[in-house]
Amino acid sequence: MKLWVSTCNNHKLREIGEILGPGFEIASLLDFRDFPDVEETGMTFQANAAIKARVLWEHVHEPVFADDSGLEVDALNGRPGVNSKRYSAPDPTSEKNIDKLLTELDGIPDERRSARFRCAIIYIDSTGREHLFEGTLEGRIARERHGTGGFGYDPVFWLPTKNCSVAECRAEEKNAISHRGRAVSALKAFLTK
Ligand code: IMP
Repeated sequence: MKLWVSTCNNHKLREIGEILGPGFEIASLLDFRDFPDVEETGMTFQANAAIKARVLWEHVHEPVFADDSGLEVDALNGRPGVNSKRYSAPDPTSEKNIDKLLTELDGIPDERRSARFRCAIIYIDSTGREHLFEGTLEGRIARERHGTGGFGYDPVFWLPTKNCSVAECRAEEKNAISHRGRAVSALKAFLTK
C-alpha cells in the first residue's frame, strides 16, 4: 500500500518506515521539489497534524498521514508542547532546545521532572475521511544528556523503567514503546485489519 507522509524529517521517516514494516511504500514531502511550508498554527498536536495532512491530501488525493509530536513537561505547565521544535526560536536547533530546557529546569528535583512525549497522527483515506491515532511515552527530564541515538529531546528524556535515556535505546526498543511507535502501530492495525 502506498502511503504519503507529511514530513521532511528524515529521523521521523526512518522511524515510521521501521514501525510500518514491509508492505508499505512510503512517499513524503522529500519527493516534491518545492513543497510549500505549512504553518503549524494549531493549539494541539491533533490540530497541527490535521493541518499538515490536509495540505498534502489536497496535493495528492491519495491516502496520507501527518504526525505532530512534542514534549510536555509538567513543571513547565506542559511546555514546550506544540512548540517543541521551535522552543529555542528564533533560530532553533535540537541542541539549543535541550540547553533551554535544562536551564528552565535547573534546580527542579527529580520527582518534579516528569514529562511525556505525545504524538497525534491524522490519516486521511482515499475518500478524504479523517482518522485520529494517538500515543504517549511517559518519563522524566534528566539533568544532563545521555547517549547519541534518536533525535530531538531523546538524550534528556529519561526512562525510569529502563534506567536509560531514549537516546541510549536501540531503534527497535524505542519504536516498541514510543509515542510515535504506539500511534503508528495503531494506524497500521487499522490499515491491515
Ligand atoms: P513536529 O515535527 O512539528 O511534530 O515537531 C516535533 C518536535 O518534537 C521535534 O522537532 C522534536 O523536537 C520533538 N520530538 C517529537 N518526537 C520526538 C522524539 O521521538 N524524540 C525526541 N524529540 C521528539
